[in-house]
Amino acid sequence: MSLPNLLTVRNLHKAYGPKKVLKGVDLDVPAGTVTAMIGPSGSGKTTFLRSLNALEIPELGIVSIDQVSVDYGASPKKPALRQLRAQSGMVFQSHNLFPHRTVLENIIEGPVYAKGIDKTNATEQAHEYLKQVGLSEFADRYPGQLSGGQQQRVGIARALALEPKLLLFDEPTSALDPETVGDVLGVMRDLAEQGWTIVVVTHEIAFARDIADQVLFLDEGVVAERGSAADVLDTPSNPRTRQFLGRVLDRI
Ligand SMILES: Nc1ncnc2c1ncn2[C@@H]1O[C@H](COP(=O)(O)OP(=O)(O)OP(=O)(O)O)[C@@H](O)[C@H]1O
Ligand SMILES: [Mg+2]
Repeated sequence: MSLPNLLTVRNLHKAYGPKKVLKGVDLDVPAGTVTAMIGPSGSGKTTFLRSLNALEIPELGIVSIDQVSVDYGASPKKPALRQLRAQSGMVFQSHNLFPHRTVLENIIEGPVYAKGIDKTNATEQAHEYLKQVGLSEFADRYPGQLSGGQQQRVGIARALALEPKLLLFDEPTSALDPETVGDVLGVMRDLAEQGWTIVVVTHEIAFARDIADQVLFLDEGVVAERGSAADVLDTPSNPRTRQFLGRVLDRI
């Protein structure tokens, strides 16, 4: 029996002015699975992730996460968009933590101010999330006192603190020094093993092969290839996928 989908996307279209960026993207993500998205620069990967989180408003298409469904073609109102946004936690390429707040304050900000959770509870939970990302000792530091990889792990703890159903990662390691990449990938691997549902845009092909249940190759706003990690990454059938993988693997 196949797992129920936690995320479904149907026929997503997004343009910036005359430029069509997403041209009818579909996606099914069963609960507890990892989906990796790869593709050339400008193919629409970030736009797609942001559309799942209602940070971008597509013209057309349906996004459903768990019990919440938004039909972008039907002029959804702000409360519906807010509800969709609350379903997922997003970790960006660079962390964007508040520099003048401690690690702990950064993590409890969302739960306390956006969700109205009382500060004592939020603090207690924040320590759990910090433990989860291996940064228990760092609660009282400021972001500037951490390495890029540690800051990115705080970003992950902050996303977890909002208790989302789905985690979205947009090239979480591409801005990091090579020596800190492994720790961030390790945290994501742990989250996958714990059963989190994850959609990750990444150029870390070995990592994707290792943890992804499915891989999508996005090219010029369409899913040009999709399948198991082994099919797409080791024996791609689309020449564009082969060409892209050749370029990415050359760079390593
Ligand atoms: N706010 C915006 N206004 C206008 N054009 C935009 C905007 N955001 C993205 N674009 C354009 O949409 C296209 C897709 O951008 P997107 O950031 O989704 O690509 P990407 O696949 O994430 O690329 P990268 O690998 O470089 O991160 C690009 O041509 C980009 O210039
Ligand atoms: Mg991008």
